[in-house]
Amino acid sequence: MSGAGRPPGPAAGTQDQPCRGAVPELDGARSRAERRRTRRFFNRVAPAFHVIDRNLLPAYREVLATLGLDPALTVLDVATGTGTLALAFAERGHTVTGIDFAERLLAKARRRLPGADLRLMDLVELPRFPDRSFDVVTTAYLLHGLPPDLRRFTLCEAGRLARRHVLVFDYPGPGPWYVRIIEAIEGPHYPGFVARPFADLAAEAGLEVVLGGETSRHGGWWLCRPGSLSPPPLETSGPTGT
Ligand SMILES: C[S@@+](CC[C@H](N)C(=O)[O-])C[C@H]1O[C@@H](n2cnc3c(N)ncnc32)[C@H](O)[C@@H]1O
Repeated sequence: MSGAGRPPGPAAGTQDQPCRGAVPELDGARSRAERRRTRRFFNRVAPAFHVIDRNLLPAYREVLATLGLDPALTVLDVATGTGTLALAFAERGHTVTGIDFAERLLAKARRRLPGADLRLMDLVELPRFPDRSFDVVTTAYLLHGLPPDLRRFTLCEAGRLARRHVLVFDYPGPGPWYVRIIEAIEGPHYPGFVARPFADLAAEAGLEVVLGGETSRHGGWWLCRPGSLSPPPLETSGPTGT
């Protein structure tokens, strides 16, 4: 993993400036330990990812075809994993950057996308990218697995980094029993995520959902408009590392 940066902290936001403030939890030992566990989990399950990739690629392709975004738009895929969504964007001609902290998944993404800029990075290092670095910031099936503070931080960062759109794929509500079992193995945050409409989570990070729909595989997607940047710029609050 690249060296750790200092995370900003959007948790103590106000209605006008939802991403302003500090989130000391992101620096804390508990948060670091949880991220370490998550990283280990995804590296362990890497061999099974071809099944997930096979299921998700058609859904991603279908949504991108529906949206018909200009291929000149640059894309950051946050938590790219094996690069399935990044691949769907690249197939349409977009220049793609991807980040993820699970090296085994990222190795596979690099094999599938030799032309993409794929970086071994933790979410808490997103502040290294300057404001409005990409036209589109996207993330797929990441948010349901994150604790609420890191989830909001990630959405705030997506809004800060995106010039045009934030595109999110995830569960729109509680899935069938086997999805619930798989997600319980991943961690404890899925029930809290699916209990709330995504538009509410987005609004807490200053994002406005402008379009959305469901995919064939118990999934949902939301195209969001990033808000204006909240001055002062996101604050830093201490060292990180996973
Ligand atoms: C369910 S997978 C989804 C992967 C990919 N977006 C897809 O659609 O196939 C969740 C991904 O989030 C990544 N992830 C979780 N927490 C992260 C963190 N703190 N920093 C970077 N990546 C993280 C995992 O390594 C994993 O690749």
